[in-house]
Amino acid sequence: MTKTEERKNDHLNICVNENVETGSTWLEHVKLVHYSLPEINFNEVDTSTEFLGKKFSMPLMITAITGGTKRAQEINRKIARVAQDKGIGMGVGSQRIMIEKPGTSETFYVRDIAPDIFLAGNIGVYQIKQYSPEQVLEATDRIEADALCVHLNAAQEVFQPEGDTDFSGCLDALSDLCKAAGIPVIAKEVGNGINRTLAKELVSAGVSAIDTEGVGGTSWILVDSLRGGPDPSQFLDWGIPTAASVMECAAAGVPVIASGGIRTGLDMAKAISLGASLAGFALPALKAVEENRLIDLLDRIGFELKTSMFLTRSRTVSDLARAEKVITGPLLEWAGQRMK
Ligand SMILES: Cc1cc2nc3c(=O)[nH]c(=O)nc-3n(C[C@H](O)[C@H](O)[C@H](O)COP(=O)(O)O)c2cc1C
Repeated sequence: MTKTEERKNDHLNICVNENVETGSTWLEHVKLVHYSLPEINFNEVDTSTEFLGKKFSMPLMITAITGGTKRAQEINRKIARVAQDKGIGMGVGSQRIMIEKPGTSETFYVRDIAPDIFLAGNIGVYQIKQYSPEQVLEATDRIEADALCVHLNAAQEVFQPEGDTDFSGCLDALSDLCKAAGIPVIAKEVGNGINRTLAKELVSAGVSAIDTEGVGGTSWILVDSLRGGPDPSQFLDWGIPTAASVMECAAAGVPVIASGGIRTGLDMAKAISLGASLAGFALPALKAVEENRLIDLLDRIGFELKTSMFLTRSRTVSDLARAEKVITGPLLEWAGQRMK
């Protein structure tokens, strides 16, 4: 097994077996205002949406998890089958290993069983400095992805035993990649959130969407410290809570994916009311796949989203984006200082 393959396996084992969720999304500080008379038919609530030109039955994607090994291939194919069946999107894990070891391509390939889904490729921002745009885009082409997510994971790399920490020149590399790419490039975090200043820089570099991956879900600082990295105790909730990151990124002028600790359909509804176009999650999907209950999880989330829409008089996802809400506590303070 190569070092990259070993790391992939460690990540899957730690995420499935340890408690790796830290901090809060701050979505508990968003209250959607209830209507006793929705004046719409529950059965006519329409959760469907479009994102970057693709149709979704509800505004949800399963964000990057894995690829590169036999076990990863099984996970990707299980997710893809359900995503196709349920009409949601999915991302594959980092395709770095596909560039290092082209024989692993098939562990990422799911188009044969998921011809219609929104499918996102994935690469680390550090790798786009190491490899040419052509090498990176060739890997994305090979899996017939609709978009390429570039993960910006400086915090994770600091706590990774073998982490790459030279993050100089990343915006230039990203700009070169965006210019060469024939598909949308999405900038994503992995659990520490993206702020408004960076969001605007990313848009200037050419990204088509931003995936917040804020605080409140899986902590990659914790996951990699459990593999022998530095003591994470002061940084367990480091970063921007997902609710705050959605507000920050929504000001940058491109569609936003709300993710990092999204666990329910109500979380999704709140995130959309704050300005997100789509929501995403990773850890709950991985655990559900391992326990063969991904369909049940998505059914539950779909019901919760639909109920939140019904009770806020939102017949469509665009109505939900305008739903009445009250923001309280630290999220209100954050907005007061940051969103002037
Ligand atoms: C086992 C596992 C592996 C992951 N690998 C990647 C990856 O290769 N690239 C990436 O951008 N994000 C990766 N992620 C991060 C997720 O896409 C997501 O940003 C993060 O876990 C926060 O979302 P959550 O709280 O819903 O888990 C991984 C997540 C899990 C659970």
